[in-house]
Amino acid sequence: MIYLDNAATSFPKPEAVYKAVDKCFREFGANPGRSGHKLALEAGRAIYETRELICQLFNIDNPMQIIFTSNATDSLNLAIKGILKNGDHVITSSMEHNSVIRPIKTLEEIGVENTVVQCDKQGFIDVKDIVKAIKENTKMIAITHASNVTGTVMPIDEIGKLAKENNLILLVDAAQTAGVYDIDVKKMNIDMLAFPGHKGLMGPQGTGGLYIREGIDMRQMKEGGTGSKSESLYQPEIVPDRYESGTPNTPGIVGLGAGIKFIIEKGIENIRKHEEYLTDYMLNELKKIDMVNIYGPQDAKKQASVISINIGDLDSSELSFILDKAFDIAVRSGLHCAPLAHKTIGTFEQGTVRFSIGYFNTKEDIDQSIEAIKKICEEI
Ligand code: ALA
Repeated sequence: MIYLDNAATSFPKPEAVYKAVDKCFREFGANPGRSGHKLALEAGRAIYETRELICQLFNIDNPMQIIFTSNATDSLNLAIKGILKNGDHVITSSMEHNSVIRPIKTLEEIGVENTVVQCDKQGFIDVKDIVKAIKENTKMIAITHASNVTGTVMPIDEIGKLAKENNLILLVDAAQTAGVYDIDVKKMNIDMLAFPGHKGLMGPQGTGGLYIREGIDMRQMKEGGTGSKSESLYQPEIVPDRYESGTPNTPGIVGLGAGIKFIIEKGIENIRKHEEYLTDYMLNELKKIDMVNIYGPQDAKKQASVISINIGDLDSSELSFILDKAFDIAVRSGLHCAPLAHKTIGTFEQGTVRFSIGYFNTKEDIDQSIEAIKKICEEI
């Protein structure tokens, strides 16, 4: 099996991740932050260690500003619904995943306005269009770091400056970049960073997080036991407890820590270099096949390791089905939960077939995929 669906979830994981989850589950799978016994303390320490590793990766000072969630969608919902109130305005882009668009559209019900800035056919946003969209009541810019459909990388540095100058909260969806691209929340002026644990960070599914800059006041989405201030009937204000009610996913978070350690050991620049090399190679080989339409920047320096294609007018689901059944190649087809992105690039009807490359893919994986695509082109 050739796995090229890493934008959905990375697979396989580093060996150390499997081992860490297993060890936690078997040896110290107690409830952290509740009881005071040795096992509970060990579980608590292991969770804190993952917070510290996340800080190291994204240049965050205070580990308590990391909120653990179940996935990036959970983080984005918390950020968007926690910050925006009746009368506020939020700016987003036409390349967003539904995990950004749907919470924003849902808030229309309570009087939160939104502007969706139109991107070009390759998925790029013009920062001047964001400037034009800013209004008196604009509170937030919520934008993806890289599109999950075309990989198009957004100019977060520039958007960060703009947000800072205008006193707007910048929320970045790092679903396709965390663990592969250098993200420095301070340099990039990112106020809130939503990330999945199970994609580039190489942790298990069911993990994710949200960084919030100190001083940002955000409503919580749920209340309950936090293991702190148990005498109070009201949700504690301290972060992260305010946002982390209920027993956490300790084995998952410990596995996420092992994934981040792996990234730090390998060097994030080496991971990016490997993915960029394979993306560049695949793009060049695809460009030689007449029947293949490639979407997005078609430039490995301007896109994450996500390549969307179609073969003529063949239905994208049919193509991914053939790749799976006849060639044992796992990809994702359709709209990738990002309908506006497909409208933007002109593939709303057909969808696309998305090859998403991960750290464990090899040149041979790409060669076999190219061969498979050529064979399919010959046969249809
Ligand atoms: N958001 C993930 C994807 O794009 C699941 O496939």
